[in-house]
Amino acid sequence: MKQLLLGQTLSFSGNPWHMPIKEAVQHIRHGAVLIEAGKVIAVGEADSLKAAHPQAKITCHGDSLLMAGFIDSHAHFSQTAIIASWGKRLIDWLNTYTFPEEARFGDPAHAAQVAETYLDLNLSNGITTACAYCTTHPASVDAYFKASQKRGLRMLGGKVMMDRNAPENLRDTAQSSYDESKALLQKWHGTDRLSYAITPRFAPTSSPSQLEATGALWAEHPDCVLQTHLSEQHEELAWVKELFPEHDDYLAVYQHFGLLGPGAVMGHAIYLSSREWDALRDAGASIAHCPTSNAFIGSGLFHATRAQALGIRTGLATDVGGGSSFSMLRTMASAYEIGQLRNDAIHPAQLLYMATLGSAEALHLADRIGNLQAGHEADIVVLNLASTPVITQRAKRAKNLWEQLFPTIMLGDDRAIEVVYIAGNRHNTCATQHHI
Ligand code: GUN
Ligand code: ZN
Repeated sequence: MKQLLLGQTLSFSGNPWHMPIKEAVQHIRHGAVLIEAGKVIAVGEADSLKAAHPQAKITCHGDSLLMAGFIDSHAHFSQTAIIASWGKRLIDWLNTYTFPEEARFGDPAHAAQVAETYLDLNLSNGITTACAYCTTHPASVDAYFKASQKRGLRMLGGKVMMDRNAPENLRDTAQSSYDESKALLQKWHGTDRLSYAITPRFAPTSSPSQLEATGALWAEHPDCVLQTHLSEQHEELAWVKELFPEHDDYLAVYQHFGLLGPGAVMGHAIYLSSREWDALRDAGASIAHCPTSNAFIGSGLFHATRAQALGIRTGLATDVGGGSSFSMLRTMASAYEIGQLRNDAIHPAQLLYMATLGSAEALHLADRIGNLQAGHEADIVVLNLASTPVITQRAKRAKNLWEQLFPTIMLGDDRAIEVVYIAGNRHNTCATQHHI
């Protein structure tokens, strides 16, 4: 059955980091999205689509904005319960808060419960796709994908590979991480809307032989993305230098083991040498920008404009639970603030792009999701641009879409998420309450 969603529509016809905003963005004031069999069939003027499809079921979203669902290009579903843990920098934060919580995911019941909560929180924040780190336990990956599959979501994720510098109950081995990752990959990759992401945590928690096994696994499955962390914090860089003295810089470690390629998704990437920037570009690798995390753990200021100028595919990411919010609106606001601290005023269109199509490009899914366009899967977020009194009074003065939208980006939260559609099916975003 065909359905028509009515509202303002926003689609990208190009990357607003690389061309004038007016050319990159298509905004229709009285627009409509035609959906059939889970896909967007057309986006256009409401009047003409209504006239052309009189039999379609109509849902009117008034003055709200219809756009592609948000895509979180880097998160840790297993850290849901430790979000907003106080007072530590990266390595202490991992040891104090993260590892004890991740150790609980050997229990399938715990993993299943957190997976439900995580997905509820994602959906109530308009996130329709995420690429998540699970834990070293295969049960955590099964729980994550099962819960995602049940909801019909397009999701990516993988088992963390980690064989040193972590508690014994969280460590795997080079061989077991290879074997378990491969078995999970074979079970989940390409099942329904799910994709497996090969997930070595970061260089300090993998032995050279584990990194070698990871490279071998990726060479056998080059259609999977490989996600890891890169150059997030000064202490981490010093640690990598100490652990891998034979390599010139952090990225060289990954390069040496065959972990740099077009499907690599590097989280953070804050402290890069010119050589590393160029190597990322030359490899066609992607970056996941994690602004709330970089502020919350005190990591530093990612150089978004440099990444874009080099043509590096860059997605936006919550990095929950190092990141301090499930809200992609809050995450965009944080990216804006970090831009300001670098003297770069990032346009709202560029923020929205990073949160949708930019992330889809980073994850190699831009042919299916990330934009409100014919042929894409109908994962849609409906934004109420007057969700709170402070936003409403500010947006009332707006003279154009961007002035109307920017207050929601800067001040909005899950109250601005009116509805999400998953493959064309309306999802009740109030489900969160049931699991907490
Ligand atoms: N580096 C290695 N593991 C992690 C993690 O779980 N979170 C963050 N923010 N950085 C990491
Ligand atoms: Zn992370």
